Amino acid sequence: MDMAGLTVAVAGLDVVSPVIIPAGPGGFGTELRERYDLTALGAFTAKTITPHARIGNPPPRLVDTGFGLINSIGLQNPGIVAFLDTVYPTLLPFPTHLFLSIAGETVNEFEDMARTLAGVEGFDLLELNLSCPNVEASCGVIGANPQAVHDVVVAVRRAFPDRPVAAKLPFEVPDVAGVVRACEQAGVDVLALFNCPHAARFDVATGKPFLARVTGGFSGPALKPLTLAKILAVRSLTHLPIIGMGGAWTADDVLEFRCAGADLVGMGLHTLQDPAEVCTIAHEFATGSS
Ligand SMILES: Cc1cc2nc3c(=O)[nH]c(=O)nc-3n(C[C@H](O)[C@H](O)[C@H](O)COP(=O)(O)O)c2cc1C
Repeated sequence: MDMAGLTVAVAGLDVVSPVIIPAGPGGFGTELRERYDLTALGAFTAKTITPHARIGNPPPRLVDTGFGLINSIGLQNPGIVAFLDTVYPTLLPFPTHLFLSIAGETVNEFEDMARTLAGVEGFDLLELNLSCPNVEASCGVIGANPQAVHDVVVAVRRAFPDRPVAAKLPFEVPDVAGVVRACEQAGVDVLALFNCPHAARFDVATGKPFLARVTGGFSGPALKPLTLAKILAVRSLTHLPIIGMGGAWTADDVLEFRCAGADLVGMGLHTLQDPAEVCTIAHEFATGSS
């Protein structure tokens, strides 16, 4: 497999390369779009927004592992109203496909945000974060429960009928076939696989955890083989387009994710470390050069 001709169509969107920036590590894109050429990215996903402002988890929120990072941000964001009033207008027009990500604690919260966003132009896909490992209630639990996933997606589809909807699932799902079936039946257009698995580290000098909230979400290259096996399993269950993520770092990783069945590939931690490199990899795919 080589890079040439890897432009893809996903849920009716033509994307220039399979490389995307997933929700979180690029923030809302404000700084990235000022400093980097994002036009070769297949898409940029803005950090998850919630119905109300969240200050996030107490620090320390990040701990290195030597082979990846554990983060415990806790969905810090200004809330949907402030986001739409103050941040969103400054992003438009966005230089590539713009995806927005939302998380609610209840079906109603998801539905209300989806209804609000149905009236907002300028973004191309709505991603439902059903899987944040860093908040107590709600979304992490929803994504592991087929009935809860079904209920949220049906409500969102009702409120947001005209543009594609992605479901971002947790890494740890006991009944993955049930959740994938629920997504299909409720009208999801794209699966975003996966959010970060739970992880922890301890300081042996004190015996205490490094993170204030003890556990966080693990990301980085060490995840790649685990993610690939899970994507392969989901690909055998569904024809829905898949955005694969979790451990992709290089252009070869992107090709490997595609071998496992992903259509698009998110680079999260790599974006946090060096957005320019991610844009360069995207550019190689967009132009077929390497
Ligand atoms: C610092 C950081 C913040 C993140 N914030 C979010 C978020 O707000 N919403 C979300 O759905 N995923 C979030 N993620 C998960 C990423 O979207 C993605 O699933 C993960 O980073 C992919 O693994 P990788 O970092 O190994 O590429 C975050 C990841 C990191 C590293």
